[in-house]
Amino acid sequence: EKRAKQAMLEAHELVSKLYHYVLTETPYGVEAMKYLTKRGMSRQTLTEYQIGFAPDSWDFVTQFLKKRSFSQDLMVEAGLLAKSEAGKVFDRFRGRVMFPIHDSQGHVIGFGGRLLDNTGPRSSQPKYLNSPESLLFNKSATLFNLHRARSTMRKRKQALLFEGYVDVVSAWQAGFMQGVATLGTALTEQQARILRRNVESVVLCYDGDAAGQEATSKAIHVLQQAGLIVRVAPLPQGVDPDDYIRQHGAEAFSQQVLLQAMPVTAFRLKHLRSQYVINDETDKTRLIAKAVEIINELDSPVERDLYQRQLAEEYSLTLGDLKWESKRAYKQQ
Ligand code: GTP
Ligand code: MN
Ligand code: MN
Ligand code: MN
Ligand code: MN
Repeated sequence: EKRAKQAMLEAHELVSKLYHYVLTETPYGVEAMKYLTKRGMSRQTLTEYQIGFAPDSWDFVTQFLKKRSFSQDLMVEAGLLAKSEAGKVFDRFRGRVMFPIHDSQGHVIGFGGRLLDNTGPRSSQPKYLNSPESLLFNKSATLFNLHRARSTMRKRKQALLFEGYVDVVSAWQAGFMQGVATLGTALTEQQARILRRNVESVVLCYDGDAAGQEATSKAIHVLQQAGLIVRVAPLPQGVDPDDYIRQHGAEAFSQQVLLQAMPVTAFRLKHLRSQYVINDETDKTRLIAKAVEIINELDSPVERDLYQRQLAEEYSLTLGDLKWESKRAYKQQ
């Protein structure tokens, strides 16, 4: 098993170099290079992240690994190759921009591969294809970019958590180097514990869409359970961090997004408001009751008072009435 793992590591290292070479030095990479340049990625970023391109071929990597005498079955297990039902072995990643995924020590253990163009004839395929779990690659215990982000995270006592690889890379290029991302799955307890070993607080920077909001609610819980202080960065509707940075620049991302990150209670109240359509007094009463519940979860009486005042003002209630409602809700628990 140890030797199998060693061979998988070696193959990942070689193949990541190969993909990077194809992207930056060969005609097969020209289209992908144009795409990445159009997306604003600098040459330096491509080098730092060893971003690559898997050519649109069934046997490019297969032949490459064969020449170097890697066992085909092992390479299938590692997820670099795939095997058809008829037993034919072929390249798993074809026609995709490749983001190497590293372990905490900086070894390549997997890839995230993005379709060059998800609007064309390939649009039936998933936009991102990730390496499968293997001896090397445990998705729930890995964070994209951790080995690069760690020193800045520790210095700042803070991590930025993104949804996508591209968001992490884009933020890094703009000077925000403490960013990591999950690997296309929900944040796990293990990942939260890894963060807690490095920082005290996490700023959630998920996409500004309904999926991002839902994922934020879930991540808040997991992060708080791990003992982390959580804040939520506000992104405009339909915009993700990479979009934002490209549209508005690094300074705006710092001032308007990161520095505006909301405490969890403020986020939950905002989320609550976005979920309710208020047609009549019954809807309004129900929303206020829910808001009161959220505020009551705060331990600090000072904080509770602050949010109660805001809520009272927002719905033109007297603070006295709201506090009475709040006590009643509290007793009912
Ligand atoms: P771009 O469209 O290139 O800007 O990527 P994005 O990061 O904005 O993509 P999106 O917000 O749609 O997804 C965020 C993350 O979810 C990606 O980085 C992937 O890890 C994951 N993801 C997205 N689409 C897929 C998919 O089709 N399959 C899998 N397995 N993961 C996906
Ligand atoms: Mn998204
Ligand atoms: Mn996105
Ligand atoms: Mn997207
Ligand atoms: Mn995006």
